[in-house]
Amino acid sequence: MNSTTMRTCGCGDVTAAYAGKTIRVCGWTQRNRNLGSLNFIALRDRSGIVQVVVTENASEELKQTASQIRNEYVLQVEGTVRMREARDINPNMKTGQIEIEAESIRVISQSAQLPFHIDDKAKVSDEIRMTYRYLDLRRPFMQKNLITRHQVAKIVRNFYDEEGFLEIETPTLIKSTPEGARDYLVPSRMFPGTFFALPQSPQLFKQILMVAGMDRYVQIAHCFRDEALRADRQPEFTQIDVEMSFASADDVMDVNERMIAKVMKEVLGLDVATPLPRMTWHDAMERFGSDKPDTRFGLEIRDVTEAAGKGTFGVFNQTIENGGVIKAIVVPDAAERFPRKQIDALGEVVKLYHAKGLAWAMLTDPVKCSFRKFFEGDTFAGLMDAAGAKSGDAVFFVADKWQTAVTALGQLRLELGRILGLIDPDRFDLLWVTEFPQFEFDEEQGRFVAMHHPFTMPMEEDIPMLETDPGAVRAQAYDLVINGVEAGGGSVRIHDSALQSKMFELLGFTPERAREQFGFLLDAFQYGTPPHAGCAFGLDRVVMLLTKSSTIRDVIAFPKAQNSSDLMCQAPATVAPDQLEELGIAIKEKNE
Ligand code: AMO
Ligand code: AMP
Repeated sequence: MNSTTMRTCGCGDVTAAYAGKTIRVCGWTQRNRNLGSLNFIALRDRSGIVQVVVTENASEELKQTASQIRNEYVLQVEGTVRMREARDINPNMKTGQIEIEAESIRVISQSAQLPFHIDDKAKVSDEIRMTYRYLDLRRPFMQKNLITRHQVAKIVRNFYDEEGFLEIETPTLIKSTPEGARDYLVPSRMFPGTFFALPQSPQLFKQILMVAGMDRYVQIAHCFRDEALRADRQPEFTQIDVEMSFASADDVMDVNERMIAKVMKEVLGLDVATPLPRMTWHDAMERFGSDKPDTRFGLEIRDVTEAAGKGTFGVFNQTIENGGVIKAIVVPDAAERFPRKQIDALGEVVKLYHAKGLAWAMLTDPVKCSFRKFFEGDTFAGLMDAAGAKSGDAVFFVADKWQTAVTALGQLRLELGRILGLIDPDRFDLLWVTEFPQFEFDEEQGRFVAMHHPFTMPMEEDIPMLETDPGAVRAQAYDLVINGVEAGGGSVRIHDSALQSKMFELLGFTPERAREQFGFLLDAFQYGTPPHAGCAFGLDRVVMLLTKSSTIRDVIAFPKAQNSSDLMCQAPATVAPDQLEELGIAIKEKNE
């Protein structure tokens, strides 16, 4: 076979079916073991690893070449595939039954000394991984993650296409609008002193596309938010963004949960039953202390306010007098499980979430309890009954305002789930959380802010309360939660200019400011607006969950580091003085 007709294979694709055939493989040297007269070269590309042998029969020149090959050298190998001896078979490798006896090896390029070994198990700091991202991306688990990401995007596009959606791109240079996170700004050269913003989401454009008659829109869209990073948050991330005209919340949830179910089926082979369960925001907070409940384990929160008020414990009684509640979590059969030190550590967890303390009872014999002396007669048993606790259980209590108490216990619940190993890592729990509050009160600004965004429609029956009791108004908003992570969210939109203006007013915008910020949307709404609704999924988060990654950085090719910078290309960076000059920008000295 001459070199033009020779079959080029992916390293990982060379199986027993190729035995006896002469093939060509190209890839990176995973390792080169020199055993005297033999060289075993593990050659890697994104399909996997194959073993190449240079035997005693090889030419002197080939042996010489083989002896000089170092890790990560790029090789082109031609040779004959042969079955391994039974004792050499590696059942853990896809290509473990065969090896390639090299006839020629061309060193295409050499590699400098590596900062870390290209291996899934190598312990590498985040800083080094980000700086040498091209090497990090050579690691099999990172390649697998990006392959999964590609598959997800492809399934998503096909799914929406079949459902009659159009993929439409929206701009990246847009107008800065308040609310939500901080904008990334881009100075304008044509209009010195003015700025574009990078979109936090395509929200306004997709709504305008509905006015424009593009009744089913989808986009895999890049979004930018200048906010503090977390394991599931990047300043630059990707949404699967959807909007539908003449659609209700149910319509949006229906199409989109079928999309997620399809992705789960095709990527993981998992059957997700639809329709997905739904839980109101209030129930999620009551039972799990979170608007993104991890329902893979129990330890649900119980209300014990009434029974807790029967004793003489000041902490409980004063909380009740101030209109607060007492909530409890029972850990079955764990009364002996928590040494004092660990209880104190759990107390620190609830304090992080603004609870004032953690009261506890270990139902051993005799009972150990931080407030035992305040409950006489059968009031103690009454309190434990209210919590649903039995002998042998551990019980934790927080007394506070409702939201603080459930939130703190919700976080304690997650911590208990982690330390007690209650979370089955192979399980996927999906649900919609619905009926979010329309507003949340921002203590710092002393005003209501939109919980989802200012274009969200309140629930019809709550509209009369907009004026009288805004805090009680529920929104037609929904989030898709997977294993305790907010994978997506959306809402029915306000399509009526009068109601939209009212909403801006409630959010503290003067009519002038609303017009200045959102005039284009309000204008568009004057020309025949269909009712519409939509949602957006975090593509990165969905892929993170599917690949069981612990951070979304592991599913993004070039993510930002913890401090929002790009360590590989060293951005952000200063620019040339003439670039600034052209933009009319002067940089203040740091200490000025
Ligand atoms: P929202 O702000 O809830 O809604 O965002 C939708 C989804 O995007 C993901 N997400 C993020 N992922 C990674 N890093 C981030 N910084 C980040 N921020 C958000 C989450 C989230 O559920 N326009 C509305 C959607 C709509 O109403 O249609 C929006 O952007 O998975
Ligand atoms: P103190 O009266 O602050 O000394 O608290 C007595 C006990 O009650 C300690 O174990 C505290 O952790 C606990 N405690 C204090 N405040 C609360 C609260 N709001 N909810 C539950 N337990 C509390």
